[in-house]
Amino acid sequence: MAEPLEYPRKQALIGGDWVTTQGTLDVEAPSYGNVITQIARSQAAEVDSAVQAARLAFEGGMGDWASWTARRRGEWLIGFATAIEADHDRLAGLECVDTGKPLTQARGDISACARYFRFYGGAADKLHGETIPFESDFAVMTLREPYGVCAQIIPWNYPAQIFGRCVAAALAAGNTVVLKPAEDACLSVLRLVELAQEQGLPPGVLNVVPGLGSEAGAALSGHPDIDHLSFTGSPVTGTRVTQAAAEHHVPVTMELGGKSPQLVFADADLDAALPFLVQGIIQNAGQTCSAGSRLLVQREIADQVLERLAERFTALRCDVGEADADCGPLINARQKAKLEARLEAAANDGIRTLAQGCVAEAELAGGYFVVPRLLTDIPAGHDVLQEELFGPILAVQVFEDEAEALALANSTDFGLCAGIWTRDGGRQLRLAKGIRSGQVFINNYGAAGGIELPFGGVGRSGHGREKGFEGLRSYTRIKTVALHHG
Ligand code: NAI
Ligand code: MG
Repeated sequence: MAEPLEYPRKQALIGGDWVTTQGTLDVEAPSYGNVITQIARSQAAEVDSAVQAARLAFEGGMGDWASWTARRRGEWLIGFATAIEADHDRLAGLECVDTGKPLTQARGDISACARYFRFYGGAADKLHGETIPFESDFAVMTLREPYGVCAQIIPWNYPAQIFGRCVAAALAAGNTVVLKPAEDACLSVLRLVELAQEQGLPPGVLNVVPGLGSEAGAALSGHPDIDHLSFTGSPVTGTRVTQAAAEHHVPVTMELGGKSPQLVFADADLDAALPFLVQGIIQNAGQTCSAGSRLLVQREIADQVLERLAERFTALRCDVGEADADCGPLINARQKAKLEARLEAAANDGIRTLAQGCVAEAELAGGYFVVPRLLTDIPAGHDVLQEELFGPILAVQVFEDEAEALALANSTDFGLCAGIWTRDGGRQLRLAKGIRSGQVFINNYGAAGGIELPFGGVGRSGHGREKGFEGLRSYTRIKTVALHHG
């Protein structure tokens, strides 16, 4: 059983004040399945106050945010990155117990969160509009302006990282934020915003309304006074959120997961590829939007690759987050039950589990563990090749040639990432161009999260780009100024 946690706050942060909500929500430790603390249960009234506070702060009616120059915002963000690094152990501990992820991963996530603030801090004063040659008696320029109040709805799989990705970019561009973290994991986020307050962020610039998706989330996405909305989560909820935002013509960025393939050709460097094939699917127990959940392998080397992969999968161990094993638990009982039902259906359809990892014995009965599995003999078009399973499950398909590999890579409605393993330079580029996805990795996968690299989907994976300068630009809009000087 995980120890009860006294910290963190059981309130919402609105206009610089910690506000007590009518009810609270229990927080579970997924490694053990017991309740460790509570968080606020914000409702429409709190969301409305938070949006009003963000509006006031944006317009200069609360604190002095509206007068901060880009350079000052950048300096604050960089200072905040340093504060996150100084609080690293505490933040990583919270992330580890709250999500169940192995401690080393939790530590990496906190470092990534700090890097987002450092990156966007450095970028804040390097963002500018253009001048445009027009008629000779005109001077035309574009102003790159913040939207205003940004609503951000984030998931439970990478709370601190996604907080960094969304909040750092929005603030760097001069917006204010109302953030709805996920009910299943938001303890690190609560600590992060407390730190932001300590670092002197003016009241109302960053507001946080913990609560249920159906309550706080729905109220925020349908709020008439937000100017921009970014959402990360499932396609189904993404549709709902988009519809709510459309009611008030609010632009949205949707990051909705994927079914990303890794393609391994006969000429690939297998020693280099194998660790990425495994890590790409077991990281965060497969609960990663960009997980490499499909392996496409060329016929000539299929037996060899599967044999070597099976060896690695068999050696994988699941354990509680702080034990820092290969794999932690899934986030909650619902996700575990959903995945187990899908695996059972797959087995009934004749799909073979070629190899699987194990759960460290001892007292793990209460945790939401599902061991990593390597699935083969999958009928074309089957659910496990089409749907995001959100678990450590790698689905294998064999291809004959490049044309078939490309067709299989593009055979889902998703398109977030793809990995290509081949030494043939022409093929690398042909496939990079042909694959429908937002990111393509050649002879690597994931680029260690690459916060500098634009990221986002096509099709059911969503639209809009985050990370890198592209992500910063997406938190601004262009105003065209045409001056007739005669
Ligand atoms: P979800 O998409 O429902 O939750 C994501 C966020 O949306 C949470 O903060 C939640 O509170 C909020 N939300 C839920 N309903 C809402 C509504 N009606 N209006 C506004 N906000 C709402 O995802 P959930 O249920 O936690 O997980 C289900 C599946 O979603 C997973 O199995 C996985 O396939 C996918 N998922 C994908 C993620 C990704 O990174 N792409 C992250 C989390 C889940
Ligand atoms: Mg939790």
